[in-house]
Amino acid sequence: MTNTLTIRRPDDWHVHLRDGQMLKDVVDFTARQFGRAIIMPNLKPPVTTVEAGRAYRERIMAAVDPALDFTPLMTAYLTDGMDASEIERGHAEGVFTAAKLYPANATTNSSHGVTDVVKIHDTLETMQRIGMPLLIHGEVTDQHVDIFDREAVFIDQVLQELVQDFPGLKVVFEHITTKDAVDFVMESGPNIAATITPHHLDFNRNAIFQGGIRPHFYCLPIAKRELHRDALRKAATSGNAKFFLGTDTAPHVVAAKESACGCAGIFCAPHAMESYAKTFDEEKALDKLEGFASLFGPAFYGLPVNEGTMTLTRKDNTVPASITADGTEAIPFHAGETLAWSVN
Ligand code: NCD
Ligand code: ZN
Repeated sequence: MTNTLTIRRPDDWHVHLRDGQMLKDVVDFTARQFGRAIIMPNLKPPVTTVEAGRAYRERIMAAVDPALDFTPLMTAYLTDGMDASEIERGHAEGVFTAAKLYPANATTNSSHGVTDVVKIHDTLETMQRIGMPLLIHGEVTDQHVDIFDREAVFIDQVLQELVQDFPGLKVVFEHITTKDAVDFVMESGPNIAATITPHHLDFNRNAIFQGGIRPHFYCLPIAKRELHRDALRKAATSGNAKFFLGTDTAPHVVAAKESACGCAGIFCAPHAMESYAKTFDEEKALDKLEGFASLFGPAFYGLPVNEGTMTLTRKDNTVPASITADGTEAIPFHAGETLAWSVN
């Protein structure tokens, strides 16, 4: 039995750090575990300009513990009719690593998102030319489509065509939740990859309704049936470099989650690597964790792997019931559970 595992220092390719006091309270959880993180731009207002991206990066660097070696990789939030030259300039100046496509109103703070991909064709052409990755929240927003089908329908209605129209564009299909998405990524060319969260590997949709409604298991895309979770677990632990780590840690204060209309998002940063280790251990694939967490992401983005290592040890690790955040509390993923792995 493996009791200690040392891997290259990992990166998180999908993180919501928020802003203000919440940013100060949550950033070190990510920076302790990950060398770099792709920072989501869905602030209020969203990060749509180079100046806003630069300023947000400075606020993150001011908030993070200076003893931690952490680099935030910024993203631009795409909007209808956006000026492609702004994205190109942001990339050239080293501010924007990637750009994010939120279908309008798909999730938290996405009301300024894209209403039709046709409206960002100029930007996508530019991104394809300069080799800048497009990060996609892959769900249709049509309220007539069943919430559990929105990812699969997005593949059929939007993604297939987008990938055909821009065959050289690097695309990350983010936080995938279905077998349909796994199959799509496997059948696509090498420039199409996907991130997978710790929570979508850990539970299926039953968890949201276990004995009552459980808001801390609600995120978007929503967790699906067991067959989908199983496909995600197989993909993540397969050693296929198209699938890599992205936690989608998305903290909200307790009152915003435990409400008549609770926010989507799971705060998984505090024990992210321990949670992934649990899945890889259960799948008898601990030897595949390093590729998923530390090697495949940099390879896709064309970046060097991190210096330094992380050691995970088989040692009981109890997750706190809550964490101080934004003047109140947030509930972390696995709250109150004892995980079998600890990060040293
Ligand atoms: C994210 C958030 O809260 O910003 N929520 C979530 O459920 N994942 C938005 C997102 O990435 O969809
Ligand atoms: Zn997200």
